[in-house]
Amino acid sequence: MRTRELCAMVAGLAYFPVAHARNLPSNVGQVQRKVVNLSTQRKTVLNPIQRDRLRRRSGSIEAALDNEETLYFVNATVGTPSQSLRLHLDTGSSDLWVNTAGSNLCTQRSDPCAFAGSYVANDSSTYEFVGDWFNISYVDGSGASGDYVSDTITIGGSTLDRLQFGIGYTSSSSQGILGIGYPSNEVQVGRAGKDAYDNLPAALVTAGQTTRNAYSLWLNDLDASRGSILFGGVDAGQYSGSLYTLPIQANRGVYSEFLITMTALTLAGETIADNQALAVLLDSGSSLSYLPDDMVQDIYDRVNAQYDSSAGAAYVPCSLESNSSTLDFTFTSPKISVQMKELVLDLVTSSGRRPTFSNGVEACLFGIAPAGSGTNVLGDTFLRSAYVVYDIDNNQISLAQTKFNATQSDVSEIPTGTTIPGATVVSNSVEATSGVVRTDGNGNAGLGDTDSGATLIAASASTYILALLCAGVTTYITLY
Ligand SMILES: *[C@@H]1O[C@H](CO)[C@@H](O)[C@H](O)[C@H]1NC(C)=O
Ligand SMILES: *[C@@H]1O[C@H](CO)[C@@H](O)[C@H](O)[C@H]1NC(C)=O
Ligand SMILES: *[C@@H]1O[C@H](CO)[C@@H](O)[C@H](O)[C@H]1NC(C)=O
Ligand SMILES: *[C@@H]1O[C@H](CO)[C@@H](O)[C@H](O)[C@H]1NC(C)=O
Ligand SMILES: *[C@@H]1O[C@H](CO)[C@@H](O)[C@H](O)[C@H]1NC(C)=O
Ligand SMILES: *[C@@H]1O[C@H](CO)[C@@H](O)[C@H](O)[C@H]1NC(C)=O
Repeated sequence: MRTRELCAMVAGLAYFPVAHARNLPSNVGQVQRKVVNLSTQRKTVLNPIQRDRLRRRSGSIEAALDNEETLYFVNATVGTPSQSLRLHLDTGSSDLWVNTAGSNLCTQRSDPCAFAGSYVANDSSTYEFVGDWFNISYVDGSGASGDYVSDTITIGGSTLDRLQFGIGYTSSSSQGILGIGYPSNEVQVGRAGKDAYDNLPAALVTAGQTTRNAYSLWLNDLDASRGSILFGGVDAGQYSGSLYTLPIQANRGVYSEFLITMTALTLAGETIADNQALAVLLDSGSSLSYLPDDMVQDIYDRVNAQYDSSAGAAYVPCSLESNSSTLDFTFTSPKISVQMKELVLDLVTSSGRRPTFSNGVEACLFGIAPAGSGTNVLGDTFLRSAYVVYDIDNNQISLAQTKFNATQSDVSEIPTGTTIPGATVVSNSVEATSGVVRTDGNGNAGLGDTDSGATLIAASASTYILALLCAGVTTYITLY
């Protein structure tokens, strides 16, 4: 089914960065809109469970690393003359960092950095040293560390001078990451105790290329490889129905992550949960979505999913893909419908075939997994169905049902102030009472601070070894 297309993507990753400030219709004259449009491309996640596990085990500040199996990429060039890089776009972290060509990782014989590229600071005449405190890491000890530097960077046809970013001399991730979250979530703040710097979305504002630190992300459906991120703008051509604006929920009184309140969940029109006030994290860097165990159990029962505790995820008959029911997420008013097709992820065994259940029925990976006592995350299995505007300046999120494969574009610049063009502010939006710590201080560990998700997903012996086989790249996940 999708496997061949996905493989083709991995093999032939080609990027279309581009366009920016386009002209308004002629009746308005040649006014330049201050937006920066960047094309994103999805790469097959070879081992989504594994990479989510690494991600979820780490604290929010440390969440920027992953393995080969990343998701949405953008093209960028850094330095003078320019050096090309592919960066993993991540709303769940806030630093841009790249590998250095001479790092312990990139100099390995297998040339792991070849795909995403690496950076040679001394080859760039615009490179400047900022400090030696760049260090991003996982609780398991893997990570990247080196210097913070600044250099010229070009994305989507826009160039920024002296953008600060990290360079890894030591690294365990073969591609750089473009974290576009809150500046307060930068590792220089959380780890080195320094003030926040302008990360890329903030620097676009400072440079006058966008007006507000806000951007729209449209991932498109599972069968499509291209999406886009529009800094400083909203594209009404890419969503259907209304765009609704909701407040971001603070955690311990701090706005540093894209948490919103989910109030209800239905499957095929039947209630899974209602009257909820549950904080959920919008995280483009997470492959699957993670919800409270009781809700997930209920969903699994209804779709006939078999949970594998060693993998921390469940398998469903692949035929669920053609079921026309939707899983609907409500956030006070806006409701995002996710088609079954978007929740059924293909797997192929090392023999090149799909795994099967003991009765011979083909098994696929289901896109929703239990959060345990960890963070509730709406990852890509949800985000592909949503058009999301992240307004960092005003701590608000606007949501609408995405229009897959949209071809019409209707871009508005996001102006100063608080209004999101075309959006309706949700009145009486529900405040999260679970999944978030409402007060600051050093009370009990709250959302994101617990590590119990890892227990749920802990690796263990396997009876099957499954692989997602694409373009000769094989990664195994273990299954019972
Ligand atoms: C984007 O990346 C692809 C793949 O490396 C490359 O062919 C293309 O030249 C890049 N474009 C730019 C503008 O860097
Ligand atoms: C953004 O760039 C993509 C890729 O070139 C293009 O298809 C899309 O129409 C652009 N969107 C806008 C709003 O310019
Ligand atoms: C640049 O070259 C100098 C001199 O060889 C070296 O000391 C320095 O570490 C290099 N800088 C980087 C960032 O690689
Ligand atoms: C980065 O931080 C980790 C965890 O605090 C620490 O173990 C490691 O030594 C640091 N690396 C460097 C190069 O400072
Ligand atoms: C979007 O385009 C892809 C690739 O052409 C196609 O496979 C998919 O079915 C389309 N999705 C929708 C919802 O039309
Ligand atoms: C689709 O899935 C829903 C939820 O599991 C189920 O109630 C419904 O019967 C299924 N429809 C078909 C046609 O299988």
